[in-house]
Amino acid sequence: MSRSAILGSSLTKKYWMALTGLFLCLFLIAHLAGNLQLLDMSPEGQLKFNAYAKFMTTFPLVKAASYLLYFSILFHAFDGILIAIQNRKARPVRYAKENAGANRSWASSNMALLGTLVLVFLVIHMKHFWFEMHWGDIGTDADGNKDLYTVVAAAFGQSWYVALYVVMMAVLAFHLLHGFQSAFQSLGINHPRYTPMIKNVGVFFAVVVPVLFALIPVWMFVHRA
Ligand code: HEM
Repeated sequence: MSRSAILGSSLTKKYWMALTGLFLCLFLIAHLAGNLQLLDMSPEGQLKFNAYAKFMTTFPLVKAASYLLYFSILFHAFDGILIAIQNRKARPVRYAKENAGANRSWASSNMALLGTLVLVFLVIHMKHFWFEMHWGDIGTDADGNKDLYTVVAAAFGQSWYVALYVVMMAVLAFHLLHGFQSAFQSLGINHPRYTPMIKNVGVFFAVVVPVLFALIPVWMFVHRA
């Protein structure tokens, strides 16, 4: 069976890419809201964060949503690679530089590269936090919950790790800058009145979400014990 037969036509691929991408954007909002609690580094704040992490890893509905999340990440990445290969085959001679820049932004021409970097970030990120939370040998806090706060604070106590997160959040920003509005186009939502609004919301989302994510490691590094 050909690859196209597995995932459908290139339009179907783009459609699924858009749906999984928008679901991942919703995850980013929820994940950001939860992680902003890390800005409260008081002893009470630390206990609260650990209680929150316990809820997020044990509450059945959230667990079910997590499986959908893992599936969406893998599907989005796999589908993205197939689309990039397909585009390259359809256009073996790359446009001359001046043409490429004429009506395509840098982000839109480099989505596969940006997406791959986000995936590399995710592997590193999940190895350090998610894997540790689920299977690592981490201690417990005064309430008996796994002390994920200390794992995160130790990671963000290292300048190189903070720098890595800041750079990766810039990469995420460029990926979202094109990805957000492109998802609506792929879903066929193209309207003279709504499209400019979607573009503006996309730019706001692509800037504010990564900046707030990047603030967390910087804040924790600056205020480390
Ligand atoms: C400074 C920013 C961030 C912090 C402090 C942070 C923190 C964490 C922590 C502590 C966990 C483990 C919690 C758990 O297992 O439930 C986690 C899991 C995860 N993070 Fe992040 N995160 C950040 C940014 C991001 C970004 C930008 C992405 C996506 C591009 C991301 C994607 C994920 C995913 C997919 C998981 C697994 C979630 C699950 O199992 O449901 N994180 N993060």
